[in-house]
Formats: sequence, structure tokens, C-alpha cells
Amino acid sequence: MRVEKLTTHIGAEVHGVNLAEAARNDDLFGALRAALLEHRVLFLRDQDFARADHVAFAERFGPLEDHPVAGSDPDHPGLVRIYKDENSPPDYYENAWHCDATWREVPPMGAVLRCITCPPVGGDTMWANMAKAYADLPDYVKQTIAPLKARHSIEATFGARMPEEKRHALKTQFPDAEHPVVRTHPETGEKILYVNGFTTHFTNFHTFENVRYGQDFAPGGANLLQYLIGRAAIPEYQVRWRWQPNSVAIWDNRSTQHYAVMDYAPTVRRMERAGIIGDRPY
Ligand code: SIN
Repeated sequence: MRVEKLTTHIGAEVHGVNLAEAARNDDLFGALRAALLEHRVLFLRDQDFARADHVAFAERFGPLEDHPVAGSDPDHPGLVRIYKDENSPPDYYENAWHCDATWREVPPMGAVLRCITCPPVGGDTMWANMAKAYADLPDYVKQTIAPLKARHSIEATFGARMPEEKRHALKTQFPDAEHPVVRTHPETGEKILYVNGFTTHFTNFHTFENVRYGQDFAPGGANLLQYLIGRAAIPEYQVRWRWQPNSVAIWDNRSTQHYAVMDYAPTVRRMERAGIIGDRPY
């Protein structure tokens, strides 16, 4: 196995590894897991394995989960299909910088994504290092956000284009989750800036320092949240990956955000993602 860094702060390409074999080989899997913690996103080419191998490899990290909006492969629960084609709605948009499913109380720890069909041009995915984004914040911002918590909503995002009844049903099934604005990585102990495109507002911004009058809450909290969400867009924190059929990305969903670039419509792009259940952020 050879690991080649793609940028200083995030991302590495792994050569000489077959993930179907890594699913069965403890040493190889251990080496990949260590590399993932170090580089946050791993990329591999030419992973022409069966869907069962995809699931078996991802399950080495932990159990998989389906997605309430994007369906899974009927024969492989947990293998979510992210399929777009010429018939996808013309006003369909993706994406925002996000960590997967932070609207869950327990968001995924990571994911294994494989490209099945590439568009002729475009369709790259980008990832950002949110530990670096936190580390680079000015001290006064770190002090302000240290105690803050924020809400993350599927209703305000995936639900936003649904008819009202369907949106309410989605929210009943997945009520907004509340997470710390700065989470601690459960394996490395590093601090991570943990707000993203699913985050709607701070829940405990009302301190004497932050809010002297009721009207201070909306401008102060909203501006700070937008500033923090915008940090993922800084190119120095990012790596960008150009897909080919059977390319795979494995990411740590706790310390990164990602963005699938919608610059290929109206053509076919088919991706399959195994999302791995994580732990409650603290
Ligand atoms: C995702 O947002 O999890 C999927 C990324 C992609 O389709 O490139």
C-alpha cells in the first residue's frame, strides 16, 4: 500500500490496495483506518468490486444506515443510490457544504462512495478539513463559540421543496438535532468546527455578552453562523477529486465537509454511498 498526499492539509490517494481484499484482511484494513484518520479522505482508483464487497468493506467501520430521501439498492440495504440523469428535474440543485446527516442525533462517522457512471464532464466532489478550519479561527471567535450549540434540520433542507404535509411528516420522523458548534473527534481528540449546510440557528446564543436586547439575537447569531458555515469554502482547506468509473472516496464525516459540484446536468452521474453509523457528537 502506498499513500500519496494530494494537498498539505487534506486528502491522499491510496495505491496498491483492493478494497474487497481489505474487507477480509485485518492488517490492511487497520492501515487504511489509520491513513483515514491522518488524511481525512482517502481516494482509490479501479475498485471494480461487487456491491456486496462495497458493503462488506464499509461495515468494517461499523453498521450502515439508509437515507430517508435517497433510496438504497434493494439488494444491498445501506448502499444509498445517488443517481442523476437527463430526467432529473432541471431546477434540481445540489449542493451545499455539509457533513452527511447531521440532522440525526447520531450522524454518520464516515462513508465509502463509489462512482458507477461518470458524466462526460464535471461532477467532481470536494472535501474540506474542518479541524483546520477550527484551528485557524481567531481566538475571540473560539471563545465565543466554545459553549454554543446549534440545530441541524432535515426539514429546512431536504424537506424545503416538499409539499407541506410531506415536509411535516419528515420532521416528525426526524426532529431537528442539536449538536455542539465545536465537537471533539472521538478518536484523535482534535477540535472540529461542526456547523454546515444543515445548521439553522444557535440554541443558546442568549448570554449577556452576546444579546443585550432581543433584536441582537437574530443579527448577531445569524451573522456568526453564516461566517462559520462559510469557512468550509476556503480553498486552502480543500481537496477536489475527479471521478472515473470505479473510483472510490472514503471520508471521515466527523472532521470534514463535502460538496458535490453540480456542473454536469443534464447528463448521467451515478454514485453509490455506504454511510456508516457514528457516535453522538460532544
Ligand atoms: C454526498 O453528498 O454524500 C455525495 C457526494 C457526491 O455525490 O459526490
